[in-house]
Amino acid sequence: MDFTGKKIIVTGGASGIGKAIVQGVVAGGGFAIIVDLNEAAAEAVRQELGADKAAVYKADLSNCDEIRAVFGRILEEQQKIDVLINNAGIVSKVPFEEISQAEWDRTIAINLTGVYATLSVIYPAMQKAGGGRIVNIASVAGKIGGGLLGTCAYAASKAGVIGLSKAVAKEGAKYGIACNAVCPSLTITPMTATMPEEKRNQIIAGIPMKRGAEPREIANVVLFYASDLASFVTGEVADVDGGITMD
Ligand SMILES: NC(=O)c1ccc[n+]([C@@H]2O[C@H](COP(=O)([O-])OP(=O)(O)OC[C@H]3O[C@@H](n4cnc5c(N)ncnc54)[C@H](O)[C@@H]3O)[C@@H](O)[C@H]2O)c1
Repeated sequence: MDFTGKKIIVTGGASGIGKAIVQGVVAGGGFAIIVDLNEAAAEAVRQELGADKAAVYKADLSNCDEIRAVFGRILEEQQKIDVLINNAGIVSKVPFEEISQAEWDRTIAINLTGVYATLSVIYPAMQKAGGGRIVNIASVAGKIGGGLLGTCAYAASKAGVIGLSKAVAKEGAKYGIACNAVCPSLTITPMTATMPEEKRNQIIAGIPMKRGAEPREIANVVLFYASDLASFVTGEVADVDGGITMD
């Protein structure tokens, strides 16, 4: 994928799927802007890639005021943003009958409201610049009601990301803004690494391809939507799930 001359924001780019996306951006000749709460891990990724290939901004994506301040600073310092990839997220594994208001609020804040807040800064900037591309990482949980690892709050947050992606695609098309969503299923990252063996086997049993994904297998599809190869694609929801959904 060719990203020569492109500036691409990747939230949650310090780990897992986000790190694989950042690696793909840089491999394609682009400049990656990593936004993450874990500044040390993000800085380590930048050093691995070469300090001139990426920038790091610390932000807590559960805090809309902080998002607006940090993304405003990114626009000032980086001048233009070609692509925004909303990848950062947390999983919530609490069953519906046990979920607390705090668990619900935190999951929705990071996974859904945080995406809205990054868009609230970047969408108008893309409008002004004559266009741009947005890719939001949702999850198979948002389509089938959870049930793999994430439960109700996670499923609701990711279903919200799918709806938001379609709405932004519909409204943004006239400004040259494309927005697509990618739905992974079980992917081997720090988010899923601590899962008990029995749970992992149970999830894998329900995946037609009978394995979890490597982060780069998700990143490959995200990078396609981020690239000019997807120039006539918007409002699409791509399942990268080993065959679970098939809709
Ligand atoms: N791993 C899976 O099986 C899987 C499956 C479906 C969807 N997803 C989705 O893919 C995305 C990436 O997941 P991953 O498995 O790579 O996760 P991960 O835990 O490996 O990485 C998540 C990254 O997001 C950052 N982050 C978390 N909370 C943040 C906050 N409040 N502010 C800023 N940064 C924050 C973390 O520091 C980390 O760098 C998430 O949206 C996740 O919901 C993952």
